Amino acid sequence: MDTKNSSQMITHDLIIIGAGLAGSWAALAAARDGAKNVAVLSKLHPLRSHSGAAQGGIAAALNNVRPADKDPRGPLEPIPETDEPIDSWELHMYDTVKGSDWLGDHDAIEIMVRDAIDIMYEFEHLGCVFSRLPDGRIAQRRFGGHSTPRANYAADWTGHVLLHTMHEQCLRYGVNFYSEWYALDLIVEDNVCRGIVALEILTGRIVTMRAKAVMFATGGYGRAFKITSNCTANTGDGLGMAYRAGVPLMDMEFVQFHPTGLYRHGILMSEACRGEGGYLLNNKGERFMSNYAPDKMELAPRDLVSRSEQKEIQEGRGVGPDGEGIHLDLRHLGEEKIKKVLPQVREIAIDFLGLDPITDLIPIQPTAHYGMGGIPTDVDGRVLANADGDIITGLYAAGECSCVSTHGANRLGSNSLLEASVFGRRAGKAIAQFLQNGAELAPLPGDPAGRTQQHLQRWLDNEGPELVEEIVVELQATMTNKCGVFRDGKRLLEAQQKISELQQRLKTARVMDKSSRFNTDLLAALEAEHLLNFSAVIVACAINRTESRGAHSRLDFPQRDDEQWLKHTVAHLTESGEPVLSYKTVNIDWERYPPEQRKY
Ligand code: FUM
Repeated sequence: MDTKNSSQMITHDLIIIGAGLAGSWAALAAARDGAKNVAVLSKLHPLRSHSGAAQGGIAAALNNVRPADKDPRGPLEPIPETDEPIDSWELHMYDTVKGSDWLGDHDAIEIMVRDAIDIMYEFEHLGCVFSRLPDGRIAQRRFGGHSTPRANYAADWTGHVLLHTMHEQCLRYGVNFYSEWYALDLIVEDNVCRGIVALEILTGRIVTMRAKAVMFATGGYGRAFKITSNCTANTGDGLGMAYRAGVPLMDMEFVQFHPTGLYRHGILMSEACRGEGGYLLNNKGERFMSNYAPDKMELAPRDLVSRSEQKEIQEGRGVGPDGEGIHLDLRHLGEEKIKKVLPQVREIAIDFLGLDPITDLIPIQPTAHYGMGGIPTDVDGRVLANADGDIITGLYAAGECSCVSTHGANRLGSNSLLEASVFGRRAGKAIAQFLQNGAELAPLPGDPAGRTQQHLQRWLDNEGPELVEEIVVELQATMTNKCGVFRDGKRLLEAQQKISELQQRLKTARVMDKSSRFNTDLLAALEAEHLLNFSAVIVACAINRTESRGAHSRLDFPQRDDEQWLKHTVAHLTESGEPVLSYKTVNIDWERYPPEQRKY
């Protein structure tokens, strides 16, 4: 690969990095509101973005169904249009605030749950093929931590359907796609964003991309863990890139473990399995959730269900050769229902384990699924420079890579497609306004691509003894074993030490492929840098937070401590390479949703 003299320049008004739901909503909303010259850059083909892997539903209080016979776990029936509604945005808000263990910001949550209803109808008008009730309304199912069935779905292909619809709409509005391009560096100086440096993966060409506005919609980072539901692309590049450029990361200690990842693979077996009535069983065949959440049972929120599973496993009641699994039982749902509403889940179980949920118990285990933290933003997607709320001009973020903070310490299932859509759309509108208000291209500081080229060249010149992959495997084991469902100070400190050792070793690790075209070996090295850098932040934030809240469960500090810890963590990179932490007040509506004990 020739990294020298290959720098070129491209200019757009808006460059969005990431083509999933948040990125495509922002592109569409900006273009519809008059933004010209909108570009979306993605390291994958846009339709391979991980939003497409979300299965079970998108939350909105549409009031289409209710439990028949008032049985909270029994069959659902359509609500006649003349009957009293059972759901409301207020109830959705309460559930989300409680689900977040009171760390979500109430202003952002209110916007999300109010806009949910409108955005569902917009999806419908844009042509999404939702599952339907007999009268034609959108079908809804139960999801964990929600008081009513409000997950709107398209069988178990919900994310796939939404993503395809949005991509079609972006093409319709003339959005430019840079497909299989990799963003290398963010150019920010004096709190003003000036563009990015990017790599055309096919050719190895390095390009400076100037823009009046840049938006991150780069998704999640589950690949820092050994067992994860996330695709191989989910290496948190946006977080790593932003952090390296001086942008803070917020609430990174909060990592969600989804209770039903396919045993040993981690692949998502949708929460819809439990929403449709599936059971979780230990090796004695007991529905053990009755001991942990007698009211909600399998439909308690994810943090609680994952902890309960882990406890069963640790106490010797797990299943599978190493006892690290739990059984998901769908058999009683029957063939017709499974084929109709959970076809993808069935296919995955058959393809990966050779087991058919119609006749077999499916072994599952907690799997790293979602990062509640990320790049801090205001409710219009503007990136915050610090805990005081100052803005980085021209820089925006939405979706999983961001932290607007609607999910606080634990996200409720079906609120992620919603959050990505609502805040992607809001960011797109805000950017269109920013451009119309006369935003200009900010001058570039020197030759930004020069630094990036040197960085890549160093990688190509490295001839050290280790391969990058070996280091990533060690990181993933460390994060799963020492910063997983249950944490404690001792193991977190060990993780911190290990990550810093791995960071040193990565400096001399080598890539084997030295070529220009589709050098995925080189990309894996760049991804490894990001994985290590933000993992160090996750662990540092987790060490500091000496309480248990939502998905951050400390065995040595088992209680929530509102007096000390009702606050967001904000991490900055320092010159030494270590994160420095500060704290930010949570936006709480003390009158309507004051903190309570969280029980299910
Ligand atoms: O379980 C699921 O279908 C995933 C949905 C989500 O993470 O919101």
